Amino acid sequence: MKTALILGATSEVALALADQLAAKSVNLILAARNVENILPVKSDLSIRYGITVSVVAFDAANPSTHKHFYESLVPKPDTVICVFGYLGDHTRALTDWEECTTILNSNYVGAVSILNVIANDFENRKEGMIVGLSSVAGERGRQSNYLYGSAKAGFTAYLSGLRNRLFKSGVQVITVKPGFMKTRMLKGMKTSPFLTAQPEKAAALIIRAMHHKKDVVYVLPTWKWIMLIIRNIPEFIFKKLKL
Ligand SMILES: NC(=O)c1ccc[n+]([C@@H]2O[C@H](COP(=O)([O-])OP(=O)(O)OC[C@H]3O[C@@H](n4cnc5c(N)ncnc54)[C@H](OP(=O)(O)O)[C@@H]3O)[C@@H](O)[C@H]2O)c1
Repeated sequence: MKTALILGATSEVALALADQLAAKSVNLILAARNVENILPVKSDLSIRYGITVSVVAFDAANPSTHKHFYESLVPKPDTVICVFGYLGDHTRALTDWEECTTILNSNYVGAVSILNVIANDFENRKEGMIVGLSSVAGERGRQSNYLYGSAKAGFTAYLSGLRNRLFKSGVQVITVKPGFMKTRMLKGMKTSPFLTAQPEKAAALIIRAMHHKKDVVYVLPTWKWIMLIIRNIPEFIFKKLKL
């Protein structure tokens, strides 16, 4: 791993990933829609770790810019971590189409749009690693968040197909399925500490999965077993639950 592109670099998980990758002497391209928010991080990481850090503007919700965004990157990354996402307001989105499309675009359409471009490049170069942060919410639709969940389900299926397509080209595709991570996204929500990863812990688990070239990784690992149970609840029972 020489240069990693982090998409959605203002996320606390992304910042922890940037710090831990920088400590391993990986050069970074930090992409975010609010570039000014990460300029201090750029100087901090480059001074502390002596690596090259660049900061670039990127809006996942603007797919028409994605091809040009990627073509303008010099040097090209050999690792891409797609972190951006948007939980949104599910109840509002049921009646507000704008909120609904923001959820779908930020978690699915935008990711597909940028990763299509990157996948083609990695396939031609016959190298690279693509890491996508999906969610356990994509494993089964629940009444409280099935818009976000369905977008993540689509993203999970997309990453699975990409992994299958790019295997013969030597490109590794990793699906990350977080349960709870203690970030802005969960602000105001109470979650069990046993089921909630701190951003630094989440980043460490993701980097370990990259090192071991895993296909799918749960953050935290306990979520693998929780989701096994949830996936196997019969539908005639599941539909009656308040989830
Ligand atoms: N936290 C959890 O419990 C949890 C659970 C399961 C899955 N996940 C997934 O893990 C990933 C990281 O989540 P997080 O907890 O760090 O979320 P977060 O704190 O809400 O951060 C989301 C990040 O996505 C960026 N973003 C949103 N829309 C964007 C767009 N249109 N263009 C570019 N960047 C955009 C945000 O940028 P701004 O700073 O500009 O807003 C922010 O950096 C997400 O994909 C999320 O869906 C999180």
